[in-house]
Amino acid sequence: MARSIRLNYICQSCHTISSRWTGKCASCGAWNSLIEDTSHSLPPDGSLPGRKSASRTVQLELLKDKEISVTRIVTHLEELDRVTGGGIVPGAAILIGGEPGIGKSTLLLQLAAALTHLGLRILYFCGEESTAQIRMRAQRLGILNSTVELASETNVGNIIATLKDGPKVDLVIVDSIQTLWSDNIEAIPGTISQVRAASQNLIRFAKQNSSAVILVGHITKEGQIAGPKLIEHMVDTVLYFEGDRGHPFRLLRAVKNRFGATDEIGVFEMSDSGLQQVKNPSELFLNERDSTAPGVAVFAGIEGTRPILVEIQALVAPSALGTPRRTVIGWESSRLSMILAVLDARCGISFAKHDVYLNVAGGLKITEPAVDLAAAAALLSSLSGKALPTDHIYFGEISLSGTIRAAGHVANRLREAGKLGFRRAILSSKSDTGTQVTQICLNRIKYIRELAEDVSTYD
Ligand code: TYD
Ligand code: MG
Repeated sequence: MARSIRLNYICQSCHTISSRWTGKCASCGAWNSLIEDTSHSLPPDGSLPGRKSASRTVQLELLKDKEISVTRIVTHLEELDRVTGGGIVPGAAILIGGEPGIGKSTLLLQLAAALTHLGLRILYFCGEESTAQIRMRAQRLGILNSTVELASETNVGNIIATLKDGPKVDLVIVDSIQTLWSDNIEAIPGTISQVRAASQNLIRFAKQNSSAVILVGHITKEGQIAGPKLIEHMVDTVLYFEGDRGHPFRLLRAVKNRFGATDEIGVFEMSDSGLQQVKNPSELFLNERDSTAPGVAVFAGIEGTRPILVEIQALVAPSALGTPRRTVIGWESSRLSMILAVLDARCGISFAKHDVYLNVAGGLKITEPAVDLAAAAALLSSLSGKALPTDHIYFGEISLSGTIRAAGHVANRLREAGKLGFRRAILSSKSDTGTQVTQICLNRIKYIRELAEDVSTYD
């Protein structure tokens, strides 16, 4: 029987498969994102046509029977070890995604050099830069004397052949997955078929040989380029390297980790000589604080299990526009609208004739709801022109009814604030502070109006 090949089209943006090509994806609305998917469709029972099924029983084993023995590769870059859950597991496939220019290649070259000093064999395949360019970067990073083995190669077959040749490889770095191509696939590098095939081959090699593999994947703001999203389910760990190119700090965030906790972050600072680890991120974010100006509140936040203190800045100014402006950087604008509505409805404080600008200092992006209280404090302070006390911190979620809801990790937040010299915390009355004794006084509030009354008493 002739094998039937059905041509499908796959959207590079949302990965929806359709049987017809259209200029616009019916699912996500992206234009020109459909490309041919050359994978063959199988019959409903999953069997390959023309091939006799030779099913056999598989050997089962008891869960309790075997000991777990994993020796992780501890990189001694503590920020990275924290994110990977205590080091890289041999045979693990790790994807590092991030926008171009954020510092992925820099981080990985530094990691590679650090590991060679532990006597490990590290191969670095680069499809975007020549080996001369990598040497120049290494010189800048001061790691030119390391024994990282380099090649500028984009053919997956050649890469796998090189890996199989010679002593065992402890870690392979492939920068980036979008540049790879395989002879067996008729599609240009960077397309879904190529990215998928290349990743599968490399991951299979990693599992069979207990060599860890790190794949670099570029993503754009629109998530247009095929790659990282598609292979997230294939790899063991997905890390995102984030940051604002206008600011020096970078966050390495675990969004999936089969070998450790997710939501952990590592903080780095991009300097002239590469990425430096930031042991105390709060100091970095509060560095250039102008604490005497109205409209500035310090939020005691948590990223993963780490407390991070960051400044929330608000500017409220009379508006000449019919619909006043609302501009938010580093936070959700819908959340700002909600806080403004709650302040209006529950405290009678209206911003309807004012433009409102809200900024999270340092280029950090905050998703935690507990930032509500700090944002509200900054807004009230800017509107009234009264600066908040410099040694106060704020955290708590504001509900639509105007009550303040408790946030988690309270003791952790207070400890960090205490270390940095803060003396009073404004938090929810329902917060569980544990038995921890800190030098910080607690202002437990139940309703948002208590905050508004508090701010109005300042000079
Ligand atoms: P790079 O690692 O090439 O980014 P990616 O691989 O994610 O595309 O880093 C790019 C930026 O980092 C580049 O704009 C220059 C900057 N940089 C420094 O500021 N200091 C340094 O020591 C290095 C190596 C790079
Ligand atoms: Mg790069």
